[in-house]
Amino acid sequence: MFRVPELPQQKKLKSIAVLTSGGDAPGMNAAVRSVVRWSFQHQIQVHGVSRGYTGLVQDQIEELTPRSVANIIKRGGTEIKTSRCQEFHDPDFRKQAAENLRQRGIEGLIVIGGDGSFTGAHLLHQETGFPVYGVPGTIDNDIAGTDATIGFDTAVNTALQAIDKIRDTANSHDRLFVVEVMGRSSGQIALHVGLAGGAETILVPEDEHDLKSVCAKIEAGVKKGKLTSIIVVAEGNKSGGGHALTEALKSQGHPARACILGHVQRGGDPSAFDRNLASAMGALAAAFLVSGRSSEMIGLQEGVLQSIPFEQVIGQTPALSRELLHLTEDLAI
Ligand code: F6P
Repeated sequence: MFRVPELPQQKKLKSIAVLTSGGDAPGMNAAVRSVVRWSFQHQIQVHGVSRGYTGLVQDQIEELTPRSVANIIKRGGTEIKTSRCQEFHDPDFRKQAAENLRQRGIEGLIVIGGDGSFTGAHLLHQETGFPVYGVPGTIDNDIAGTDATIGFDTAVNTALQAIDKIRDTANSHDRLFVVEVMGRSSGQIALHVGLAGGAETILVPEDEHDLKSVCAKIEAGVKKGKLTSIIVVAEGNKSGGGHALTEALKSQGHPARACILGHVQRGGDPSAFDRNLASAMGALAAAFLVSGRSSEMIGLQEGVLQSIPFEQVIGQTPALSRELLHLTEDLAI
């Protein structure tokens, strides 16, 4: 499934901390467990920071042991909790965070989160010299430098289960459904759920779509005897999302039903893929951080896990596969 490189042998740090930040993602617990257990196994002390950067600024930090993370590999959400911390945009709060860590003798920080969380970590390192290391955890799969983020696979499977169910009722009533999935400004979830669920149309933020062509596709389908259609729309698509698109379709004589999957996609037990990815990424992140690397992220590139500098990651948008998108269109006949 993926290969793990040889781990650095050097151990420059003796005490590290881990936090989860931004939107939670299934598999974050598996990553925390892996950081804790790998560190413990290598005589490195580990601390968990509660509620992401909020807890870091407020000094909510406690030591974790292998027993503190027992049985969490299978749990969704994040046991050490997360937050979207506005204060961390302020350098004074970042300085306070570094002081809180140093006062406890902590020498490095692992941040499990997305692009915004890595931006905060990178600034913390640049401004205070505090060593930081990233693990990509977000259902959106929108982080450059890695082919997969922790939580994406589970979220796609969760949305897929919903689409399969919607397909049953859509078929029974010969209905058109618009299903909105998450992803912020990325179409990765929409594309992969749409392809797996046999969606007739997939609308992603990366593309412009005019209502006319969406209607024309529905009408062409009806002429071919296709009385049920599922349109998967990413929340960030320019149509305005599920409700707006449904209303627009209705105004064109296509009575559609909207289903907004929302935060359901963020919950649930992580898939085997996400647990494995998180377990490998967590341990590698700890190994790279304690070896003296900083401001880097563990990424999966062409099947190999490797350490990628934040400069190549932050603010970059990974491209959506046009080929895969076109393939789904070819199959939706
Ligand atoms: O980044 C993960 C994500 O679930 C996005 O897909 C979504 O746009 C956003 O978080 C929702 O954030 P919140 O839970 O803060 O409303």
